[in-house]
Amino acid sequence: MVGFSRGAAAAAAGLLSIYSNIQVGMTQDSGNTNAIVADGTAFTLNGDNVSYRFHVDNSTGDLRSDHFGGSLTGPIPAAAEPETQGWVGLQGRVRREFPDQGRGDFRVPAIRIRQTEGYTVSDLQYQSHSVMQGKPALPGLPATFGNEQDVSTLIVHLYDNYSAVAADLMYSVFPKNDAIVRSVNVMNKGDGAITIESLASLSVDMPYEDFDMIGLRGDWAREAHRQRRKVEYGVQGFESTTGYSSHLHNPFLSLVHPTTTESQGEAWGFSLIYTGSFRVDVEKSSQGLTRALLGFNPNQLSWKLGPGETLTSPECVSIYSKDGIGGMSRSMHRLYRNHLVKSKFAKSDRPVLLNSWEGLSFNINQSSIYRLAQESADLGAKLFVMDDGWFGDKYPRVTDNAGLGDWVPNPDRFPNGLEPLVDKVTSLKAANSSTNLRFGIWVEPEMVNPSSVLYHKHPDWVLHAGPYPRTEERNQLVLNVALTEVQDFIIDAVSNILNNSDITYVKWDNNRGIHETPSPSIDHAYMLGLYRVFETLTSRFPNVLWEGCASGGGRFDPGVLQYFPQIWTSDDTDAVERISIQLGTSLAYPPSAMGAHISAVPNQQTGRTVPVTFRGHVAMMGGSFGLELHPAELHEGEKAALPGLISLAEKVNPLVLRGDMYRLSLPEESNWPAVLFISEDGSNAVLFYFQIRANINHAAPWIKLQGLDKQAMYSVQGKGTFSGATLMNMGLQFVLEGDYSSTVVFLERQ
Ligand code: DGJ
Repeated sequence: MVGFSRGAAAAAAGLLSIYSNIQVGMTQDSGNTNAIVADGTAFTLNGDNVSYRFHVDNSTGDLRSDHFGGSLTGPIPAAAEPETQGWVGLQGRVRREFPDQGRGDFRVPAIRIRQTEGYTVSDLQYQSHSVMQGKPALPGLPATFGNEQDVSTLIVHLYDNYSAVAADLMYSVFPKNDAIVRSVNVMNKGDGAITIESLASLSVDMPYEDFDMIGLRGDWAREAHRQRRKVEYGVQGFESTTGYSSHLHNPFLSLVHPTTTESQGEAWGFSLIYTGSFRVDVEKSSQGLTRALLGFNPNQLSWKLGPGETLTSPECVSIYSKDGIGGMSRSMHRLYRNHLVKSKFAKSDRPVLLNSWEGLSFNINQSSIYRLAQESADLGAKLFVMDDGWFGDKYPRVTDNAGLGDWVPNPDRFPNGLEPLVDKVTSLKAANSSTNLRFGIWVEPEMVNPSSVLYHKHPDWVLHAGPYPRTEERNQLVLNVALTEVQDFIIDAVSNILNNSDITYVKWDNNRGIHETPSPSIDHAYMLGLYRVFETLTSRFPNVLWEGCASGGGRFDPGVLQYFPQIWTSDDTDAVERISIQLGTSLAYPPSAMGAHISAVPNQQTGRTVPVTFRGHVAMMGGSFGLELHPAELHEGEKAALPGLISLAEKVNPLVLRGDMYRLSLPEESNWPAVLFISEDGSNAVLFYFQIRANINHAAPWIKLQGLDKQAMYSVQGKGTFSGATLMNMGLQFVLEGDYSSTVVFLERQ
């Protein structure tokens, strides 16, 4: 690590007063070329196609933002000094790298500290900085990781001389991913207690330009719908106050120019690595500067820091792309596949599974489960998952009003326990393969039903606020995972299940938001507890394939992905709805992380009937493909189609898991949504092309491919051999029959 302090910097720079004019030639970096250039007056982080720059303002000691966008080389022009007539002084007119409260910046601050005396003013000035290769882990929080070749880190130490509060801004750059991540450490170095009332992990101050903002909004069974709107003067944004990242809004934001499209123009993507309540604010100032902040939800923070204590914010990823929204997504996907998901399964082929939920619901016992497992094996599935309804002895889980918390098999349904059943299921062979069926199980360990042994024993383990009623949702209450004894209980209960039988997959559900909390800071304390639970269990059972779930995609966030390589994308299994949900989710998250299943028709959520081939094609665009139905209840034709769809999904899976995704045509804009996955080395690709409504007496459109090598020749299944240039500039035309028809086409570079 190389350190540098303010005095030394000023001496080195000859006390230059216009720091934004300085081109700093000092490279602190040996592994990556010029990844970080910093001398204590100006700071640059360089990716292959991105530069991020800021400097120290000489008169205030504040950090001022200079640039976040395409690569810069050489000196940069100084920003014009703004006019400061009227109420608003300089602080309110300039781009600030870490805006604090008071001192004349009337915009949303990145930090608000209630000092010991009660003031909410702070004055965090540059003090020193250090640079290192690699990236330190964040204590107790999920974060991106990489070795010394992948990533370099700059830590800028700020200090408030009036209150003895220190803040470290920790920036890491992943040059190959054009990604810069930031988190903030706030330390109380004084003698009295302070309260952190708001803290954004990332705040970027962009120059005067017009922007659109894109977010993912939704609800239960309608997650991740892309919402694009113009950034207007004033503050706009979205948040989750549910205690979790939620179905309602995702902790992801993109800023784009009004002219940016999927494939062209500048796009910035921001993604908060956090599973709790969050806030995203985008403020266009009176001067036209756009500030975006992502971090804790201030409504659920109020974090007390005693003398010597530290609060670390979650990490926020920022990506820049000049190749449109699609380019931004692909960089984010690569970063997350390689530098976020810790599981050994992050990039490995996923077993085709059959999950019992939509087929059997709560009506399960050892014989119905075994029969369903047998049918799964006969169809060629490699993993069978027993969903909700298997546990609870004194308060059996036969419907959703009892049993959560009592993680023992229901003795009426499983009189011999789970082990013999798991042994029988795991000795079944998947059809046409030598693979034995694997066994997976559903749990929801953060929750408790009042009708449970656990609740009767530990009523105080649930989140509640003194005398206020404990609001039940789905007849359940939330355990206070901030308590160490609750964390230990969950770790023991889940370990017990996994130690006692050959269960190699866990679906970890979470089916309600948090209501009454004894104090706002419990939300973050809960998250720290939950991450301890996830970290302990996933390190203890590294061979288990873990899947996150929260009534579908209620916790589809990068915090969960650190521990679980896949997440059940939505409880809506209708294939038409799923195209929007999966393509929306893919704005921020790699397709490798998405669970997607073929279910029965009419669909349980929408009542829509869609052909099985279309359902299969949509589901195989998710990294974890499966079935969620009772084969015995299918029509003959549907059942006959499943083995073929399973082997097609297995063929497609490596491209979906490890390839680059191009959203060629969007469901909200076209009757013919289309997606192309190209292998990392560019040698293979697969095209998914869908027709939602029948096309009557009208020409079929041509779909232009992207991401190919224009010089190379590609053989296109069923069409012939064409150059990349032809496929990208002219495209391919498909004439499909009827509503909900689809095709999957492989391409191979010659
Ligand atoms: C909600 C999940 O999203 C479903 O897939 C299913 O596991 C149910 N919970 C079970 O209660």
